[in-house]
Amino acid sequence: MDAHLFDWLNLVLRWAHMIVGIAWIGASFYFIWLDNHLHKPLDPADEARGIGGEVWAVHGGGFYVARKFRVAPERLPPELHWFKWEAYTTLITGFFLLCLVYYYGAEIALIDPAVRALDKPTAIAIGLGFIVGGWVIYDALCKSAFGDDPLVLGGLVALLSAVAAFALCHLFSGRGAFIHFGAMLGTIMVLNVYFVIIPGQAELVRAKEEGRPVDPKYGLMGRQRSVHNTFFTLPVLFTMIANHYAGVTAHEWNWVLLILISLAGGLVRLWFVERHKGAGNPLTLGSGLVVLGLAAILALPRNEPGGSGPASFAEVAEIVKARCASCHALKPTQENIAAPPKGILLENEAQIRSQAVSLYQQSAATRAMPPGNMTEMTEPERRLIARWFRGGTP
Ligand code: HEC
Repeated sequence: MDAHLFDWLNLVLRWAHMIVGIAWIGASFYFIWLDNHLHKPLDPADEARGIGGEVWAVHGGGFYVARKFRVAPERLPPELHWFKWEAYTTLITGFFLLCLVYYYGAEIALIDPAVRALDKPTAIAIGLGFIVGGWVIYDALCKSAFGDDPLVLGGLVALLSAVAAFALCHLFSGRGAFIHFGAMLGTIMVLNVYFVIIPGQAELVRAKEEGRPVDPKYGLMGRQRSVHNTFFTLPVLFTMIANHYAGVTAHEWNWVLLILISLAGGLVRLWFVERHKGAGNPLTLGSGLVVLGLAAILALPRNEPGGSGPASFAEVAEIVKARCASCHALKPTQENIAAPPKGILLENEAQIRSQAVSLYQQSAATRAMPPGNMTEMTEPERRLIARWFRGGTP
């Protein structure tokens, strides 16, 4: 593919993914907030009309009142808004973006021979297997007898997610593993909307139209999945930005970090839900922050390349030219790289010196660069860069 086309597809898909993703999660956060803030209707007549709760709000220069019926209104209005396309389009744009960046560009973004030397079709098949398999197993669990106890089910889902985090981090590059973890949970969230929550609502509307009582089964199933979606949200959002943090994704304990940060996200979300209901337990927020702190401590770089002795700029320049400049150049020679990634140029002395910190971090401290070690940088070379950096970049 033409590199310019690749860049623009990437730009458009990512932008679209973010827009619809915000619309989806924003609406979802709003409705959780709304549901948890409902109070008795101010007008007793409303209660008699079957309204169970209401919320008054002021926003954007107007007053709003949202009312929730205990069951359903007497008569359905001619127009009823549904919230579903935000979720579906998030999955669709995300899937194409995943295909473009991580499958089409698998050698750069997904495969890391130092983790596992997968060929491209195998790596893609495994990636898709996690996304599809994750849903199949999750859905079966929810429908099984375990689904009757929310705590047992929640524990099992968390345990399986942790196993997936471990497995992915032992199959793919760090960023490839993190994005697949997020894509797997994100897909579960969207399919929960598609297969359970929306059909449940459709049944509610049909029952109302046909004047028969609603089977509470649908509401309970939808509720169970909504609760899971709530807890998945913050971990999924983290994985979407995780590739900016090579110190996390490329760390030797990256799978533990992924689990800890996801746990922290779940606890913080729980605290928000508690707060909506009137009292956020400080212990919930505190434990989320403690878990995040533990992750930060664990992520301290430990396996810095050792060795001592002098390292000259000439040696560093030689390594950078051989291992980095095929991509980080004004005119990259690497296939699929149209422009220097992140605008980082490593072609001459001034550029290399100005990037000394990132150069050291990316190639020596975290080993995130070169991606998938495509240019076959050696350990002695990484050690040399570390020595040069620690020696004050002579
Ligand atoms: C095969 C192409 C390729 C090679 C070779 C390569 N890089 Fe990169 N580099 C990239 C890409 C792609 C990104 C953007 C990654 C992303 O999207 O997060 C990047 C990003 C970076 C960043 C910015 C990281 C950030 O998130 O801010 C630095 C610094 C960097 N590379 C340094 C290096 C160094 C040093 C070398 C040589 C040891 C190197 N790169 C070799 C492709 C390459």
